[in-house]
Amino acid sequence: MKRIIVAIDGFSSCGKSTMAKDLAKSVGYAYVDSGAMYRSVTLFCQRNGLIKEGVVDETALRERIDDIHIEFKFNEERQRNETFLNGENVEDEIRTLAVSSQVSIVSSIGFVRRAMVALQQSYSKDKGIVMDGRDIGTVVFPDAELKIFLTASPEIRAQRRYDELKQKGMEEPYEDILENVKQRDHLDMTRAESPLRKADDAIELDNGEMTIEDQRRWLLDIFKERVK
Ligand code: DC
Repeated sequence: MKRIIVAIDGFSSCGKSTMAKDLAKSVGYAYVDSGAMYRSVTLFCQRNGLIKEGVVDETALRERIDDIHIEFKFNEERQRNETFLNGENVEDEIRTLAVSSQVSIVSSIGFVRRAMVALQQSYSKDKGIVMDGRDIGTVVFPDAELKIFLTASPEIRAQRRYDELKQKGMEEPYEDILENVKQRDHLDMTRAESPLRKADDAIELDNGEMTIEDQRRWLLDIFKERVK
């Protein structure tokens, strides 16, 4: 069986990471959450006063971009991948609404994207990787053997994010989350640098009415076809 690259793109809170993690685990591939990387850069900016009144100090960030080191480690006890920013576990902090509300402005900066894309590409040396994001099938791995583009309505996605945060004890008002989801859709699709769009050869799936189990089976069947 050949080893392939699987690119899963789509709108925020569509369940991309659930789908990507499930597949990676089932088939023994590495999983990379590219959104966590942009979230980590955003947290770095916030902690270092590089965002003032919603505007990123790009000159200062450019000078410090090489000081940002992002790694992923699997936590056996919690059975999850965790994101480390300069050696610190920031997995929970990068999921807060405070970070979500500024990540689109940071991820729209060209030199930030170029640095993250180079890092993402470096993970694929021996293939066998599932990566989720916005531009994985279009920019990071345009030759990926399997590309999925996920969609679901903003209301369903906001509800999912609300449930996820609540479960982690980080409840936020549903209306605020919905607003954030819509705002990020708009920013992700209209930014000049690598806007969110479906790759021509991606398979589109609206998972709004699907269970996680339905989705898992659907993807596994397609994956098995592709690696034959
Ligand atoms: O998947 P997520 O919601 O954790 O992503 C956080 C933000 O990062 C999202 O608003 C858009 C941006 N992003 C991106 O621009 N490119 C990627 N490959 C992944 C995420």
